[in-house]
Amino acid sequence: MNADAPIVETAVRIVRREDILTARKTVRAAARALGLATVDEARIVTIMSELAKNACIHAGAGEARVGVRSLPDRDQILVEVEDAGPGIPDVSAALSVGFSTNGGHGLGLPAVNRLAKSLIIDTRPGKTVVAALFESARA
Ligand SMILES: Nc1ncnc2c1ncn2[C@@H]1O[C@H](COP(=O)(O)OP(=O)(O)OP(=O)(O)O)[C@@H](O)[C@H]1O
Ligand SMILES: [Mg+2]
Repeated sequence: MNADAPIVETAVRIVRREDILTARKTVRAAARALGLATVDEARIVTIMSELAKNACIHAGAGEARVGVRSLPDRDQILVEVEDAGPGIPDVSAALSVGFSTNGGHGLGLPAVNRLAKSLIIDTRPGKTVVAALFESARA
C-alpha cells in the first residue's frame, strides 16, 4: 500500500485450521470497524479464508496480515498471507478455475482474483507472499 494515509496492521500466525477462523475474525472486525456493507464484509472474509487455507494446506503454515486504510472517498483492506512452503510453480495455472494440485476444487485463488481490486503473487520455493487489495467505496 503506498498512498499516504496511515495503515493499521494486524498479524495472525496460521499453524492450525482453527487459526484460519482467527484470521477470518480479524478481517471481519476490520471490515466492521470501517463500516463496510455486509456484502463487502463477506467478500473480504472470503479472500482471507481462501488465502489462509492455501497457506495451511499447501505450505503447512503461514502468517496473515491485515492492513486497513481509510481514504476520503473509499476504504481499503490489504490481506497479505506469507508462507515458507514450496511456492507456486505456475501462477497463471494456479489462477485458472479448476486447477488444483491436491484434488481441491481449484476455486480459491480465482475467487480471490475476482474479488480483489489487485492481487500480487510473489512466489519462490521457501517464500510465497500473496497480497490482495480490497477496496470499498464510502456510502
Ligand atoms: N500458498 C501456496 N503455496 C503453494 N501452492 C499454492 C499456494 N496457494 C495456492 N497454491 C497452488 O495453486 C493451486 C490453486 O489454488 P486454489 O486455492 O485456487 O485451489 P485449491 O487450494 O487447490 O482448492 P480450493 O481452494 O478450491 O479448495 C493449488 O492447488 C496449489 O497447487
Ligand atoms: Mg485453495
